[in-house]
Parts: sequence; structure tokens; C-alpha cells
Amino acid sequence: MRSNYCGEVNGSFVGQSVELCGWVHRRRDHGGVIFLDLRDRDGLAQIVFDPDQEESFAAAEEVRSEFVVRVTGLVRMRPEGTKNPDMKTGEVEVLGQHLDILNKAETPPFPLDEHGNVGEDVRLRYRYIDLRRSEMSDRLRFRSQVTNTVRNFLDSHGFLDIETPLLTKATPEGARDYLVPSRTHQSRFFALPQSPQLFKQILMAAGMDRYYQIAKCFRDEDLRADRQPEFTQIDIEASFCDEDEVMKITESLITDVFKKHLDIDLGVFPRMSWSEAMDRYGSDKPDLRIDIEFVEIADLMRDVEFKVFSAPANDTESRVVALRVPGGASLSRKAIDDYTEFVGKFGAKGLAWIKINDCESGMSGLQSPIIKFMPEEVITNLMRRLAVESGDIVFFAADKEAVVNDSLGALRLKVAEDLDLIRDFWAPLWVVDFPMFERSSSGDLTSLHHPFTAPACDIQELKKSPSASLSRAYDMVLNGTELGGGSIRINQPSMQAAVFEVLGIGETEAREKFGFLLDALSFGCPPHGGIAFGLDRLIMLMTGASSIRDVIAFPKTQSAACPLTEAPGEVSTVQLNELNIRLREQIKLS
Ligand code: AMO
Ligand code: AMP
Repeated sequence: MRSNYCGEVNGSFVGQSVELCGWVHRRRDHGGVIFLDLRDRDGLAQIVFDPDQEESFAAAEEVRSEFVVRVTGLVRMRPEGTKNPDMKTGEVEVLGQHLDILNKAETPPFPLDEHGNVGEDVRLRYRYIDLRRSEMSDRLRFRSQVTNTVRNFLDSHGFLDIETPLLTKATPEGARDYLVPSRTHQSRFFALPQSPQLFKQILMAAGMDRYYQIAKCFRDEDLRADRQPEFTQIDIEASFCDEDEVMKITESLITDVFKKHLDIDLGVFPRMSWSEAMDRYGSDKPDLRIDIEFVEIADLMRDVEFKVFSAPANDTESRVVALRVPGGASLSRKAIDDYTEFVGKFGAKGLAWIKINDCESGMSGLQSPIIKFMPEEVITNLMRRLAVESGDIVFFAADKEAVVNDSLGALRLKVAEDLDLIRDFWAPLWVVDFPMFERSSSGDLTSLHHPFTAPACDIQELKKSPSASLSRAYDMVLNGTELGGGSIRINQPSMQAAVFEVLGIGETEAREKFGFLLDALSFGCPPHGGIAFGLDRLIMLMTGASSIRDVIAFPKTQSAACPLTEAPGEVSTVQLNELNIRLREQIKLS
């Protein structure tokens, strides 16, 4: 139907006839001449219709925004003074000789150029219109190109692209499952995979050696800007390898992607232990672009009369931490109150602070609600340890470790953003030496990654001191976002049983849920390990989008619904009967 994409038509086409197809982006009448900006996936071309060409002029008069048309015309240079250097095709225009209206369009729910004034719900409901905007289609094109690079890289390194089932059994990755009822096995349910974790391990037991998949994963969890209920992983697994080998090859994959598509050299990724990350940043995914670190001050605060600090300073499960923020002395009282409220959401009972108005003037150069509770010597030591400068503010958190890490870790990010302290470079990082387990709020041990992650110790040690055991897991972090996570796996049934035991999963439950994995481990499963990257997050970071919703063609809303299709939807009584499902009375369908 067409000879070229609209965005292709440039000076080299002058004098040639072209056939273009696309949407009417804009129509302008200029003293008897009609200009159409014709748009397709590739860009815009300006078409001019002259009243001399009666038939095409009449057709052009009829079209409106978003009509789908086909134009035949002659490419010519635009007259001097009307060239548009901001447009790929801005040097030329097409003199329209023929115009077919292929389809009319209702007035669109929002003009493409004014999407900013439209709620996201409307944009998602009319996603096909939103995706016509070049910003959106460019991101999807970019995503497709990156996926292609990922495939080429992995193919050329001997990884096989193997699909794994979507109708399957629960794989625990820490979220709720999406369940699918079975018609043929009444009262039974499939779970959509939270990841292909168990299948990729079983593929290693099957001798596939190197596997990858661009895999859809499903997790029913609270949504945020970087979380969707349905998302995509670059899922990778390899046999006969250790953690260094997995990290090396996947680091080169990400490095290759950044070089090819953004011409950015990420360099060699630094590595940091989990405990160092928590000590210095209160986070297992620290944003290293921010040059602000936690400073431990418990030793200075043990004997002060200020109980808010001295009590946690004398408690082994608590921390007392200071955070020096350059330039923060200019923060208003209101801003500090807002930060106090902010840290409150993470459980902090308050937010003590000291402003360093003039560091040459000793105590009189400081301003703070808490210095009156502390001897001058303590303050002097504190200021020395923090290496304060005039104009700084120091924030303090004193509480149980988790509260301090969560609240001050989040404050570090927020203040840096507000005061423009995020430096402009790419900061990749491997976080390693994670603990095997963490304690949930109910006091039970749960896996920090997943229960198939190998510990760095033997069975005896694991059972003796599970809380102190480290795992062979690694996370890749980029600019404070967890881009990927993986580990060397357990390949011995006895070790897998020991981990289940520590997690309080009894033998019967383990057999019931993971018997197929335990069997696979017992029939000659090689040592293996892997990783999964969040593809949506990778594309979000690379394109500078503020949410993964902007790099997914058809994302869900914050409440995990799809306004386009209105899913999840009601189903008929017939379907429910077939599935042997009866809804509870109060929510029965009308
Ligand atoms: P994990 O649960 O860490 O590991 O997931 C791997 C990566 O997937 C991305 N991700 C998400 N992206 C968008 N929305 C979500 N809801 C979401 N949840 C996770 C993140 C994360 O780093 N089977 C293991 C991997 C392995 O051990 O090999 C797993 O799924 O970028
Ligand atoms: P108070 O004596 O409770 O009024 O607290 C004095 C100052 O310490 C106030 O600025 C509080 O916001 C702050 N504060 C209270 N509890 C904590 C805490 N756990 N960590 C840090 N600062 C706190």
C-alpha cells in the first residue's frame, strides 16, 4: 500500500513520487492551502494540498484528526523560511496528488499533544491512542531492540531459549499467587508462575546446561512505580558454574546492552556485601549516586541523658545513626516537620536534627532541639566524626535496626532528590553475601531470596545458626533499583531438606509442594545457578521513564486492573458451574 514510512521522507527524495499511509496528526487550512501532518510509527511528514488539484483538495477538506489515510504525492523542498530543523522530515514536504480515506475516526478522547492533562486511567482505557504518541511508541521500539540484543547475546553464548508452563504449581517468590481453577480436576487450581524458578532448575537436571527465557511472571502484591502484577523477566540459568561465573557473564550482558543502545560504558561493577550496604546506606539496593552515608554513633551516645538515644545505644538489636546532608541547614522548619512525618511512615518515632550554621563558632554555631541534652564533649566528638561543614544538617535515627534502616534509608533518597544531590552518572553494583534468612514480623524465619538458594555453609552449620548463615545469592542494583537477583542453587536433596526444615516446612508439606524438585535433585542434578533481571525495570531506567507502566504496552493500574479490557471481569454462572465454583452469597453475581 505504501512506498515509505512518513518519517523516512527527506531531502534525498526530492522529485520522487511517494505513497504514504498513516494517521492525520494535524490539519491546518492556510489561505486556501491545506496542510496535513501525516503520522505513522516512524514519524511525521507534511503534506500540502493545493486547490488546483480539485479532487485531492476536496478529500483533504474532509479529513479530521486521527483519520487513517493514504496519500500519493511528489516530494519537494519546503520554501526557504518554512523549513523545520526540529523535524526529521522538516526540510521537505509532499505535494498531495491523491488522498484516500481508509478509515474515519471519532474525535479522540484526548488530543495526542495534550496527553499531560489527561488522567492515567483515560490513557490506559484508550491505550491504542496513547501508544500512537511517539514518546510511547519509541519506548516500545527501544524495548524490542534491547530484547533482541539480549537474545543475540545469550544465543551467542550457548543459552537455549526454552519455554516453561504458565499453568503450573506455586513457586514461592514471596508474593501471593494468581490462581486458575481447573475444570477437569474440580476443586483444584493451577498457580500462574511467580517466576520460572523451579522449571529452570529442572531444565538443569535435564542436562540443558544453559537456559534463558524472556518470561512472563505473575505476582499478586502491592503495586508501586516499579512493580506490576504481570511483568517480564530475562530469566537465566546455567550448570557447572559458580557465582563469579554467573555474575561475570550477566554483567557483560547488561554492559553490552548499555553500550549498544545508549553508548554508555558501565565499567566493572563494584561489589558490596549485604551487611556493608545495610550499615552504610540502610538498604540492600543502595543508590551510589548519592554521596551521603550513615554514620554509626551508638558508642558516643551510651551515657548521654537523652534517653531517645542512650536506650537504643545500649541495646544490641538497635542502632543510633547520623546522616550528614550537605547544604541542608537551609531547610525550613516546615520541611523538617514534613521529613519527620515521612520517616514516621517507616515506624520512626521522631527525627532529631542539628543544623551547622557556622562550624567555626563551636556550640553557638549549632541549632538543634537536642543538643541541650548532651555534654559539649559528646557534641564536639560527634561533629568531628561526621566531618561537618557550615551549611550542613545532620539527621538522627535511634531505634530497632530495621526501623532505622528503613526510615533513614528512605530519608536519604528523599532529601537527595529534594536538594538535588543525586549525581549524574550510572551507578551499577553487585550486592553479595546476603543472609540466608530474615525474621518475619511474626518471628518466623523466611528466605531472603527463595528457599532454593544455596547457603555458603554446610548442613551442620546451617542448622546450628541459621540466622548467621550467609547465602550464595547476588543482586544487581542500578541507581538504587534492584535490576536482578539470583543465586547458586541447592543441588543436593539433603541440603534442600535442611533448608525446608529451618523454614518450618515439614517433610510431608515439602513432599506435597516440592516433591517433584526433590526427586529431580535426587536423580543426578548438576551444580547450577542463575539470575533473573526485571526487563521492565531495565527499560524504565534506560529510557528515563518514571514508571514501568510507561514501558509496558498494556499495563495494569495501581489496583491491578486493566481499564482497556475491564479485566478482571465477571464470569457467567455456567462457567462457574463448570468449574464447580460457587461465589459467597454477598458477592453473588446479579
Ligand atoms: P526476584 O524475585 O528477585 O527473583 O525477581 C527478579 C527480578 O524481577 C524483577 N521484579 C519485578 N518487576 C516488576 N514487577 C514486579 N512485581 C517484580 N518483581 C520482581 C526485579 C527483580 O530483581 N527466580 C528468582 C530469580 C533467580 O533466583 O534466578 C526471582 O524471581 O527486577
Ligand atoms: P522528644 O524529647 O521526644 O521531643 O524528642 C526530641 C527530638 O528527638 C525531636 O526532634 C524528635 O523528633 C527526635 N526523636 C524522637 N525520637 C527519635 C528517634 N527514635 N530517633 C531520632 N530522633 C528522635
